Amino acid sequence: MCGIVGYTGKESALSPVLEGLRRLEYRGYDSAGIALVVKKGDPLWLEKRAGKLGNLESILDSVPESHSGIGHTRWATHGGPTDVNAHPHVDNEGKLALIHNGIIENYVELKAMLTARGHIFKSETDTESVVHLLSDARKAHNGDLAAAMREVCGELRGSFTLLAVHSDEPGRIVGARRNSPLVVGVGDGENFLASDVSAFIAHTKRALELGQDEVVDITADSIVITDLAGTVLPHREYEISWDASAAERGGYAHFMLKEIYEQPKSIADTLIGRTAGLDASITAGIDLQGIEKVVIIGCGTAYNAGLVGKYAIEKWANISVDVELASEYRYREPSVDNKTLLIPISQSGETMDTLMAMRYAREKGARVFSVCNTNGSTIPRESDAVLYTHAGPEIAVASTKAFTAQLVAMYLLALHLGKVRGFISADLENEIERELTDLPGKVEQVLETVEPLRALTRQFKDATSVLFLGRHVGFPTALEGALKLKELAYMHAEGFAGGELKHGPIALIDQGTPVVAIMPTENSLLAEKMASNIQEVKARGAIIIAIADAPLASADHLIRIPKTHEFLQPVLAVVPLQVISYEMAIARGNDVDQPRNLAKSVTVE
Ligand code: G6P
Repeated sequence: MCGIVGYTGKESALSPVLEGLRRLEYRGYDSAGIALVVKKGDPLWLEKRAGKLGNLESILDSVPESHSGIGHTRWATHGGPTDVNAHPHVDNEGKLALIHNGIIENYVELKAMLTARGHIFKSETDTESVVHLLSDARKAHNGDLAAAMREVCGELRGSFTLLAVHSDEPGRIVGARRNSPLVVGVGDGENFLASDVSAFIAHTKRALELGQDEVVDITADSIVITDLAGTVLPHREYEISWDASAAERGGYAHFMLKEIYEQPKSIADTLIGRTAGLDASITAGIDLQGIEKVVIIGCGTAYNAGLVGKYAIEKWANISVDVELASEYRYREPSVDNKTLLIPISQSGETMDTLMAMRYAREKGARVFSVCNTNGSTIPRESDAVLYTHAGPEIAVASTKAFTAQLVAMYLLALHLGKVRGFISADLENEIERELTDLPGKVEQVLETVEPLRALTRQFKDATSVLFLGRHVGFPTALEGALKLKELAYMHAEGFAGGELKHGPIALIDQGTPVVAIMPTENSLLAEKMASNIQEVKARGAIIIAIADAPLASADHLIRIPKTHEFLQPVLAVVPLQVISYEMAIARGNDVDQPRNLAKSVTVE
């Protein structure tokens, strides 16, 4: 939520800052702005515009030469998406600029205090308080921006990533973070700060982690990290494992389409070296034998992946599993102890709701084994053990390849628990491992047959409501299908458990209502029950679009997927659902990669 980038170095700063903003735009896209330090002591060069980054780019002619600057792409929290509320915000001299991701909870009292001191506010944002506070602190610290930042952070409540520049110190950028992401890109004669590594991946693969309440002070050839007391901290460097092309569209019309088609690879990458089981060292330090309960937490798509994980863990490892929306879990203060294994699932590793829920459980003694796609992010850093998905960067706001990689991670994790606890039989273990190995090829097969979905989807483009039905692991798959359609097509869509149909949802069925049915594996007990559910809605006028691994006479439209183990079926069944949502967004003229009102990484509660 909000993308932040800073550049200092030999290049003209506008180009890397803009490039970083383009790559970070998925984090928020309701306004954008840039501040550049042009000449020592002069007011900063500043441009900001409401709307997508393109609006800002269209007015960027005759930009003066500069070698340090900051840029921001916004997802509004306090103050609507207007030019004035866009970041950067500047002090009353126009020499200090600040960008922010997060929420300053005590901004009302700060604003009152600063207004009384004579500061003039222009925007309705919480952020503007910080720029005035920083301006005063900098004067009190004889022009030392880093010392001022440390002091100011101590006075702020809430979550923030902050970057600041001052024209009296060209080439210097100071950043800070609390509960919001910030990474350092280490270049040669140039350095970067950004919300995530994609912003500078074309320039360097060397990155530094920043911990909670740390302040970073960069110039073209120095990087100093301190805590809020000013103690200098060692650098925690890591190498980024993917390259710039992974964060580009590569000939596809949209990132989402590219990411849908990358799934055979992202699933294979997540499985590499793991199909014969996870290395025992992955959970070293967690007493898995002593675990009495598993709690999976996540938001959005990650939550749906967790629901599938529950079926697998309960069946293969015989442990009771709760799956909770992270935002609900945290605030109902559930009972947790050191016999609880908490599994947070997060693509970004920065989702605030998930992070807060995880911290709560950890404080109560839970052991944390996270599933995450982003190296160096906060959730894995604060976990006892991590299982990384290797989906690569996911740029489209609607998650696709991260979801299927999360499913695969949950199967691996369930197998691991089943083995460590001596519950799963060798036969079942071998069967699952074989089926996992075959998954990338089967996803490939599904992708080869999705073309007819284009025409099919268009037939339903004016439907007022689309229902998704599933049973067993098909139920979370139905939830994910409905979530994708809501996010991308802005249509009313709901996922239901087939068995719940008669307890209310069937009243929604009308003549011509499209119902997407995720059929359980052929010949299973549930396949028969689901077939009955289909007859029930069909008798009331529904049009059935079935996703099945076998023929189904009652379907008006049948989408065939290959057979796999019944627990693994969501990995195959979700692919056509992703394609339907993608095609529906196009048919309805929506922005596929940047759906309205959403942001990919939700770093506020
Ligand atoms: C946002 C995104 C979703 C994502 C959810 C959780 O809502 O739009 O696609 O599933 O956050 O994100 P995480 O990074 O924690 O998986």
